[in-house]
Amino acid sequence: MEKYDYLVVGSGLFGATFAYEAAKRGKRVKVIEKRDHIAGNIYTKEVDGIQVHQYGAHIFHTSNKEIWDYVNQFATFNRYTNSPVANYKGTMYNLPFNMNTFNKMWGVRTPQEAMDKINEQRQEMAGKTPQNLEEQAISLIGRDIYEKLVKGYTEKQWGQKATELPAFIIRRLPVRLTYDNNYFNDDLQGIPVGGYTQIVEKMLASDLIDVETGVDFFAKREEYLANYPKVVFTGMIDEFFDYQLGELQYRSLRFETEELDVDNYQGNAVINYTDAETPYTRVIEHKHFEFGKGDKDKTIVTREYPADWHRGDEPYYPVNNQQNNDLYKQYAKLAQEKEANVIFGGRLGQYRYYDMDQVLHAALVCVEKEFNK
Ligand code: FDA
Repeated sequence: MEKYDYLVVGSGLFGATFAYEAAKRGKRVKVIEKRDHIAGNIYTKEVDGIQVHQYGAHIFHTSNKEIWDYVNQFATFNRYTNSPVANYKGTMYNLPFNMNTFNKMWGVRTPQEAMDKINEQRQEMAGKTPQNLEEQAISLIGRDIYEKLVKGYTEKQWGQKATELPAFIIRRLPVRLTYDNNYFNDDLQGIPVGGYTQIVEKMLASDLIDVETGVDFFAKREEYLANYPKVVFTGMIDEFFDYQLGELQYRSLRFETEELDVDNYQGNAVINYTDAETPYTRVIEHKHFEFGKGDKDKTIVTREYPADWHRGDEPYYPVNNQQNNDLYKQYAKLAQEKEANVIFGGRLGQYRYYDMDQVLHAALVCVEKEFNK
């Protein structure tokens, strides 16, 4: 076997950033990836000239200028601004909740009128302590918005009734008293022109990095651990330890992608279906991430269905409640005590609901710790 300094398990943003930075410092890196392609969940693939976000809508947004400059080394970003629309039983509302939403919902026109209406609606919970997610949402925003824009979507996302979900899931429901449909509050956002995969491709392009896809770490786990001086593991930390302390919880998703013979199917990149009856939560029309670029007679849409997670399913979201976070801490402790040569990183290795900018930041912190000690 060739001599490597690091084995990186997983070619997502965390693994690729670590590999790139290690190679920059003259280290030899082997990257293994169990899927048949690199880039993890940010993978995009061109179909009919359209960049398809294979694992759900990915919009890069950050307030950290250093992270923005860092990612811009690898791609040119367009000026895409995330402004999803909610479809509730055929009526369309702007998101996040802002003056456009309130105007459509109640006919109010000024911020004062909107606040008066919200406060009137919140009265229902006055003096009561919210005991579940439904009560919490009503105490924050009132019943109309809760029932039309929060309830069905949240119940589908979690696979549970809002009255059975804990109140803490919704700590805040941001209300914007301007006619501004920009979903994120960050200063910087966009989509890489030509998709995300190029970012990881460029990160892994060094001669000092070898990449093998279609390879599962667990197929030869002992051999890998014995032969590599150091391993960066970006898979599930509980799976690494064979679930010996118990299973962490995840939510999964099922994506249904379809090519349609129309130029413009829904007029927006992301439409949320907020009623309980529609089984999917979102429909993504990929060409709108790049302002309609691609074949004029075709479009690609993806329906996103939330799903329970069982062993073997893709673990898209960690469920960061108290119980899981406590269990994760025990796994992190075990890692420290038993696996000094393994660095656990990324969404699954650190069991955190990281966005892309946060993953980049976490990877760079890890690099700093590893090479400047
Ligand atoms: P990631 O999961 O991407 O990579 C881990 C890799 O390790 C995977 O490729 C996996 O196959 C591989 N692997 C796991 N176990 C292995 C094993 N045993 N052997 C070999 N390989 C193994 N963020 C954002 O900023 N804006 C957004 O709009 C969105 N949108 C969004 C939508 C959806 C549906 C999801 C699920 C996530 C987002 N995100 C997001 C979050 C974003 O996807 C996330 O921050 C990064 O992709 C995480 O990168 P990681 O490298 O940590 O994990």
